[in-house]
Amino acid sequence: MAKKLTTEVLNKPDKELDISLRPSRFRDFIGQQKVRERLELAVEAAKSRGDVLDHALLSGPPGLGKTTLAYILAEAMDVNIKVTSGPVIDKPGDLAGLLTSLETGDILFIDEIHRVQRAVEEYLYSAMEDFVLDIMIDQGPNARSVRLEIPKFTLIGATTRSGLISAPLRSRFGLSNRLDYYGVGELQSIVERSAKILNVDVDKEGASEIARRSRGTPRIVNNLLKRVRDYAQIKADNKVTRSVADKALEMLDIDKYGLDEMDKRILETIMHKFSGGPVGLGSLAVAVGEESDTIEEVYEPYLIQEGYISRTPKGRVVTDVCYERFGIKPKKKEQELPFGT
Ligand SMILES: Nc1ncnc2c1ncn2[C@@H]1O[C@H](COP(=O)(O)OP(=O)(O)O)[C@@H](O)[C@H]1O
Ligand SMILES: [Mg+2]
Repeated sequence: MAKKLTTEVLNKPDKELDISLRPSRFRDFIGQQKVRERLELAVEAAKSRGDVLDHALLSGPPGLGKTTLAYILAEAMDVNIKVTSGPVIDKPGDLAGLLTSLETGDILFIDEIHRVQRAVEEYLYSAMEDFVLDIMIDQGPNARSVRLEIPKFTLIGATTRSGLISAPLRSRFGLSNRLDYYGVGELQSIVERSAKILNVDVDKEGASEIARRSRGTPRIVNNLLKRVRDYAQIKADNKVTRSVADKALEMLDIDKYGLDEMDKRILETIMHKFSGGPVGLGSLAVAVGEESDTIEEVYEPYLIQEGYISRTPKGRVVTDVCYERFGIKPKKKEQELPFGT
């Protein structure tokens, strides 16, 4: 049997596909209206002052457009962008190398910024605030610090785990934006845009079917489009209709509602092991074998948005929508039974 396509596979950055389908201007960036407006305004304001763009933090689950926005900002500001990621900056010297290679106004994009090491992070503070680096040279009695001036630059940090960003780092970002899962209508527009670029014939219903099964995520929607196209090429005369999309996605074992393995495990665990909840985040995390931060920041937002889970003061509970989708009868709890029954 073919290996199941998990979100991990479908949401893995695909260099070629990402680059060819990545919008490079605000006007092609679909959805995220509020974030877009705020960033566009910041760009205009900085430009009219002849100033450098404020440091910006972009957070949200993978595949929603953080990297895309960093490139759009560079394009809009008409500056260079240098791209790196948290785990790659090993020591303060690496950071100094990156920062001194920038020109005034340039953007340094640090992906997965929550994974920057503490020792490096502390250097970021003065770099972001005062555009200087105090580097220690030599050791022992000869140790002294040398101040290095760096050009005024913009740091754009991206993170899937905003909860792991320390308060001092967070406070140094003038702009902070969280990206949310996309609605089906927005994803459908993304499919239609991508289909044009990839030269695939997709009708409205076909696009909507792919959109519904993409877990609210543009990267997944593009990935599924590519696979549905392959299917259509061989089996359906190159035309993607609803039934073609449905057959292709069925064959790939893609969930009808866009849920992935972990989503299902979380929901089933709450329904079966915790009688529908409420269950605390910690207990849920242990039961499904995932970190509680990851559940809270990567999985839960989608499940809440889709109305499968709600948060109560006592913990997470699954909703009737969830029971219905899984075709399970909710267990009635004793205290909820009306008197006399
Ligand atoms: N708002 C959007 N409109 C159109 N396409 C998008 C949008 N956001 C993301 N994409 C597509 O999804 C892909 C993944 O986005 P990316 O910015 O790499 O996500 P992230 O950095 O948040 O993981 C991009 O290459 C782009 O093709
Ligand atoms: Mg990215």
